[in-house]
Amino acid sequence: MKPFNPLTRRQFIATGAAIAGNLVMPAIALASTSSTLIKKAIPKSGEDLAVIGMGTSRTFEGSNDPQSISTLKQVTQAFFDLGGGMIDSSPMYGSAQQILGRILPQISHNKTLFAATKVWIDGQQNGIDQMEQSRKLWGIQRFDLMQIHNLVDWETHLQTLQQMKAEGRIRYIGITTSHGRFHDDLQSILRKHDFDFLQLSYNIAEREVEQSLLSIAAEKGIAVIVNRPYQRGSLFSKVKGKALPDFAQEFDCTSWGQFFLKFVVSHPAVNCAIPATSKVHHMQDNMQAGRGRLPDPKQREQMIRYVEAL
Ligand SMILES: NC(=O)c1ccc[n+]([C@@H]2O[C@H](COP(=O)([O-])OP(=O)(O)OC[C@H]3O[C@@H](n4cnc5c(N)ncnc54)[C@H](OP(=O)(O)O)[C@@H]3O)[C@@H](O)[C@H]2O)c1
Repeated sequence: MKPFNPLTRRQFIATGAAIAGNLVMPAIALASTSSTLIKKAIPKSGEDLAVIGMGTSRTFEGSNDPQSISTLKQVTQAFFDLGGGMIDSSPMYGSAQQILGRILPQISHNKTLFAATKVWIDGQQNGIDQMEQSRKLWGIQRFDLMQIHNLVDWETHLQTLQQMKAEGRIRYIGITTSHGRFHDDLQSILRKHDFDFLQLSYNIAEREVEQSLLSIAAEKGIAVIVNRPYQRGSLFSKVKGKALPDFAQEFDCTSWGQFFLKFVVSHPAVNCAIPATSKVHHMQDNMQAGRGRLPDPKQREQMIRYVEAL
C-alpha cells in the first residue's frame, strides 16, 4: 500500500486538490473565486461529480404529510439550484425512497441528478426484486450507482450488479459501510474485486480510514463517498459556542458546517460527502462548502489541531 505523498501548499493551490502519486486528478481545478463549484472526477470514468451530495437517512424518513413533503421539496430544490448531483438513499431508510419519488418529478433543474441507492437484503432474487422496487419508488429509468449496503450478502449481489452494469441497467457498482467492524473484511474485498465506488464514514474526529480504506481506494482508482461527515450531527455539539478559527477564511469557510465538509472533501481520495439535512438553510450552508478553495495538507493539519484543542 503506497502512502499519500503530501503536497506543498503551492502545488495544492495550483492543482486545486491533492494529486499525489497514484491519486486521481479532479476534473475541475479549484476555484480562484469563492463561487466556483468544485467537482472531482470519478476515477473509473472521468465523469465529474460535485463534491457535496445529499444523504436521506432519517431526514427523508419522516411522515408523508403535506408540510413535511413541502419542506423536503424545498431542501431538494435548493440542493439542485446550488449545483448538487448525487442523492444517496437505501431501502433501509423507511419511506425515504418513496418520498424522493414524490418530490423528484416536482423539482426543476434535476437533470444533474446522480441517483444512488443500495441493495440491503439476503438472496439473489430478493436483491433483484428490492432493486426493482427501489427504481419504481424513485420513478427513474435506472440508477447511476447501486451499492451493496453494509456488505449484506455481498458476493451474491456483486454478481447481479456486474450483470446489470454489463447490460446498462446501472452505471456504477459500489459497496458501503459505516461500521469499523467491517473495515478488515472490506479491505480484502476491495483488493480482490472490482468496484467503482466505496462509501464509508469519515470526518475530522474519526480519521482511521485514512491509513486503510482511503489508501486502497486511491491505489485502485475507486471513487469514495463519505457518509456521516458530521458524525450524525454530533460534531456540532463539540463546537457549540466556539468561534471558527481565523485561518478558516483562507479556504473560503464561514461556518462550522463548511469547516467539517471542506475537511472531508479535501482529502485526495474522497470524491464527495453526502450530509443529510431537513432544513433549507443547512442545505445552503452545506452546498457552500463545495465552492471556493479547499484546505491544503498543511491547513488540514491545522484544522485537526484546532478541533482537538477545543
Ligand atoms: N452504511 C451506509 O451505507 C450508510 C451509513 C450511514 C449513513 N449513510 C448515508 O450518509 C448520509 C449522511 O449521514 P447521516 O445522515 O447519518 O449523518 P450526517 O450527515 O453526518 O449528519 C446529519 C445531521 O447533521 C445535521 N446537519 C446537516 N447539515 C447541517 C448544517 N449545515 N449545520 C448544522 N447541522 C447540520 C442534520 O440536522 P438538520 O436536519 O437539522 O439539518 C442531521 O441531524 C445518510 O443520510 C445516508 O444517506 C450511509
